[in-house]
Amino acid sequence: MTDDRTRPLTLPRASAAGGPGLFVTFEGGDGAGKTTQASMLEDWLRSGGRNVVRTREPGGTDVGVRVRDIVLHHRGHIAARAEALLYAADRAHHVETVVQPAIARGDVVIQDRYLDSSVAYQGAGRVLDADDIRALSLWATGGLLPDLTVLLDLDPAAARRRLDADDKPFDRLEAEKSEFHARVRAGFLALAAAEPHRFLVLDAAQAPDVLAGQVRAAMQEHLG
Ligand code: TYD
Repeated sequence: MTDDRTRPLTLPRASAAGGPGLFVTFEGGDGAGKTTQASMLEDWLRSGGRNVVRTREPGGTDVGVRVRDIVLHHRGHIAARAEALLYAADRAHHVETVVQPAIARGDVVIQDRYLDSSVAYQGAGRVLDADDIRALSLWATGGLLPDLTVLLDLDPAAARRRLDADDKPFDRLEAEKSEFHARVRAGFLALAAAEPHRFLVLDAAQAPDVLAGQVRAAMQEHLG
């Protein structure tokens, strides 16, 4: 972790940079409940008549699906810097072909994971330099930052119990040891502390309905 993390970012948000839409991302460790919350927010916005694009990284495009297969399911070692570049490549293509056009149309983009995942997993988790990882993603995306990032914070042991209950085989990242996931969690919390205006940090041990209410309250402020 470096001092630069605590410096406020002055980059423009999606709505200022890319058009009239909104860009909302969900972040957190594996098993924190991002997909459930993203779906609940999507349903609520659609029922209010908003156009929503629901997407994810890695794997939000045809190119991204192939990158996702490598980063999550490749058998054997992938060099940490190669892994970081693969996530950044997925992101560059996704932002240019899906996210930016949706924002320009005025849609709300709801996305599972974005650049904060790279800083937390490849930076804090793989112990690459956090500033390098952030700079790489900002280069890849032309500096696009979300309007709102919901961080679902959960103790990695509780998250692991949820994943075990799911009974799905672990992917490469999920299979990492508990110290890795503890570093990832600390990495996310440091990012949120450095950018309190962008982040909404929620205790993901709460019931899904309670969390959804907290997300909606934050969204209401952004929708005006
Ligand atoms: P995710 O799609 O949330 O997994 P699942 O479909 O199993 O819920 O994310 C896939 C994994 O990729 C997750 O362990 C986090 C990791 N990841 C990174 O390491 N760096 C990144 O930049 C991103 C976007 C994800």
